[in-house]
Formats: sequence, C-alpha cells, structure tokens
Amino acid sequence: MIDVQNLTKRFSGRTAVNGISFQVQPGEIVGFLGPNGAGKSTTMRMLTGYLPPTSGSAAINGHDVFNDSLKARREIGYMPENVPLYEDMRVAEYLSFRAALKGVKIREVRSSVDRAVEYCGLGEVKKKMIGTLSKGFRQRVGLADALVHRPRLLILDEPTNGLDPNQIRAVRGLITQLAGEHTILLSTHILSEVQLNCRRVIIINKGEIRADNTPDALAGSLQSSGTVTVELDAVPVQVEEKLQALAHVRRLSFSEVGGGWHRYEMRVEPGEEVRLAISELAKAQNWPLRELTQHTATLEDVFVELTQRD
Ligand SMILES: Nc1ncnc2c1ncn2[C@@H]1O[C@H](COP(=O)(O)OP(=O)(O)OP(=O)(O)O)[C@@H](O)[C@H]1O
Ligand SMILES: [Mg+2]
Repeated sequence: MIDVQNLTKRFSGRTAVNGISFQVQPGEIVGFLGPNGAGKSTTMRMLTGYLPPTSGSAAINGHDVFNDSLKARREIGYMPENVPLYEDMRVAEYLSFRAALKGVKIREVRSSVDRAVEYCGLGEVKKKMIGTLSKGFRQRVGLADALVHRPRLLILDEPTNGLDPNQIRAVRGLITQLAGEHTILLSTHILSEVQLNCRRVIIINKGEIRADNTPDALAGSLQSSGTVTVELDAVPVQVEEKLQALAHVRRLSFSEVGGGWHRYEMRVEPGEEVRLAISELAKAQNWPLRELTQHTATLEDVFVELTQRD
C-alpha cells in the first residue's frame, strides 16, 4: 500500500528526513512516533504529494506520489497537522465542496458527505459555520474531510492534538472503527494511543528510523527492560550484598520507606526472571517481605531510550 524508498528531504542544507525506507501493507494500522522536529510531518507531506522529496521515492498502491500524483492522491485521505478549514462555510457545505474537489461524482457527493458526517459524529453541527466550532469538532471535520472520498489509505498527522481526554477517546474510537476498512498511518505523541490502536510502530528521530516493530516487541527488546522492586524489613548492608550477588542482577539502589522497611530497586538483564530467587533468599534469611514486583518496559521507555540517548 505504501512503499517508501530512501526518502530524503533537506531544507536549505538542513536534513529533516534522512534516507528512510519502509512499507505498509493493506489493512495495517501503523503508529508513527517521534519527538518534536523528528520529521514525521515532513514525511507525511511527502507521502501525500504536498512536498517534493530531495531524493528517494514514495509510491501509494504502485502510483508514484510525484510522477503519478493524481492517482496516488485518490487513494489517500490526509489529515494534516493544522487542518485548513474555511471558517465561513457550513460543515456539510464544506465537505460537499471538498468531496467534489477530490473527484467524487456529483450524484454521489450527498451520500459521501452523509456517510462522513455520520462516521465522525458531526450530525448535530453539520449546518453550523466551521468558525463557530470547538477545537474537537474542527478536528472531526478534518477527519471527515480526509474520509469523504472513501480513500483506502488514511494518513493522519496528530489527529488528537489539542483535544481533551474525552474527545481523544472519541477520536480514538473513531480510528478503531475505521481500522477495519482502511490502511492507516497515524502520527501522535500519545503513546497509549499507539499501544491501543496500532499493531506496528515506527519510531523516527532526527529524520532516521530508529525502530520498526510491534509495541510489545519493542518494549521487550529494550536494553533497560526489567526492573524489579522488592520491599524488605532488613538491614541494608546485608541485603544489598546478597541481592547484588544473585544472577542477572545488575544495578541496585534502595531507599528507606519507614518503619524499618526498605525498598530495593534493581535492573535485571532483559528477559531474566529473578523474583523466585529473591523470594527464596528472603525466606532463607528470614527477611520479612511485603512487595516483589517485576516491571516490564513500556512503549514510553522505548521512546525515551531511542530518542534521548544521542
Ligand atoms: N518548510 C520548512 N522549511 C524549513 N524547515 C522545515 C520546514 N518544515 C519542516 N522543517 C524542519 O524539518 C524538521 C522536521 O520537521 P517536522 O515538522 O517534520 O517534524 P515533526 O516530527 O512533525 O515534529 P512535531 O512533532 O513537532 O510535529 C524540523 O527541524 C523542522 O524545523
Ligand atoms: Mg509534525
């Protein structure tokens, strides 16, 4: 569905996207993650034909986005970062205008608009001026605009940006609903959104792809994965030495949490199980134990690790 080869974009000497390649198969929902300025929007603008690449190529369903841009664009519903809307048009009027512009046949405009309005929950505002709508409803109009010509591929640049938690949920629900019929490439800063919606995540930093996998696989592969917390009622000098001596335990720190209890945190080698060894040790040493937890890395840990290290 999407085929990106060595795509590069330089702005007056500054490289925003640096030779990235990836493919997206039909039906996939892919989260596109990266810190501010990573190159997400620039990539999306190239994919949608709004920005010419410096080098490399991108094709949508075999149509090159530049040499065959009309056909490529027909396949795409694009919701840009800042949705440009005509403030003094009514919602339904605007969507009809956009549908016609995108090549929807005159006699199908009405039903296409009705469908997009229905999908995006715009029924109650469809006769209102866009300029009078709240941010959340404007985002929905942007999404309806992306959908109105029934594209197979949706490219959504931070669709929940600036929304309140209820609206975020609503938009997220909408995306889940769209997932069945569409291929989706979605950029966002909200990691939980990716974890819920996407089976695949591409992490980009400084214009380069740093990771491309399922959210779980990424979290599992993280070097810093595996933190174990244990709370014991015992004197740290003895405990520290014995815990440190266990296999797979790397780094250890502790703090006093009151009443003689101490909280020990340790990093363990990825994929290793040390809880059993700790509970047996505590039993053998007669250390009262009240907590023993293993934390696995989250997508957020992966994001931080991959985008902050350099
Ligand atoms: N039209 C432009 N002219 C010059 N530089 C640009 C232009 N558009 C983007 N850039 C630069 O390219 C880099 C990548 O920007 P881009 O907007 O793609 O990042 P992003 O990942 O979408 O970030 P954000 O999360 O903030 O939206 C940034 O350094 C940005 O300043
Ligand atoms: Mg952006």
